[in-house]
Amino acid sequence: MRKTVSAFTEAKKSGRKLTMLTAYDYSFARLVDSAGVDGILVGDSLGNVILGYEDTISVTMDDIIHHTQAVVRGSENALVVADMPFMSYQVSVPQAVENAGRLLKEGRAQAVKLEGGQVVAAQIKAIVEASIPVMGHIGLTPQSVNAMGGFKVQGKNEEAVKKLLADGKAVEEAGAFCVVVECVPANVMKTLTESLSIPTIGIGAGPHCDGQILVYHDMLGLFDRYTPKFVKKYAEAGDLIKKAFASYVSEVQDRTFPAEEHCFLGQGETLAKMY
Ligand code: KIV
Repeated sequence: MRKTVSAFTEAKKSGRKLTMLTAYDYSFARLVDSAGVDGILVGDSLGNVILGYEDTISVTMDDIIHHTQAVVRGSENALVVADMPFMSYQVSVPQAVENAGRLLKEGRAQAVKLEGGQVVAAQIKAIVEASIPVMGHIGLTPQSVNAMGGFKVQGKNEEAVKKLLADGKAVEEAGAFCVVVECVPANVMKTLTESLSIPTIGIGAGPHCDGQILVYHDMLGLFDRYTPKFVKKYAEAGDLIKKAFASYVSEVQDRTFPAEEHCFLGQGETLAKMY
């Protein structure tokens, strides 16, 4: 049975830590789902790790829908959350509701995520009123990279902490079922988590969150352009894959692959008749 948003609400009440990972395709959705995560995020980070852009700005609704469909097909237990890409909700409240609806109707996600606090509270409220569960995203919001002047830790001075707490409250009051908080100091995160009744899911926000999320390319060592400080590498799968590819290349070249066990054998008589 697939998890619903109530699993997130109950986890906050009982103190069980929530786990989320990203996935963008069928095969990895199967792997992530089988690990027992509560939620899978089809993040707009696909712009970086799948499509090779330098940021998430160019990701489109069609990109997210295409990848969400594959992730839904590959998972059966986790709640699938689809990210709303840049400019799919900022323009107006009706635009936000319409695009959130597409992510459920066409992508078959169970919830959507959008970036921003007080400034998108009206959008969150309207999407929730359309019966679409919303996950907020505050702190470092990568879609605002140009306005923020780079990918920087947020909540580092008194004014920024006040803004972060107000953003968290705004997202909660607008009806979001949980909120991702990216790149904020761990002590600030403690205050934020304690001040909210909805679960906080941290990335680069330390241990005082109700749950954690990571981009799987980072935690498996599959993305070598950069690794954020907050990432723990649980495997060096990139190195392993590179070695496997190199072995294939050298075995084809030295004629040890394909070996007899990789070949189909035809009937000798059939061949004799043909030639
Ligand atoms: O797009 C994404 O993967 C995200 C996570 C970093 C939370 O938003």
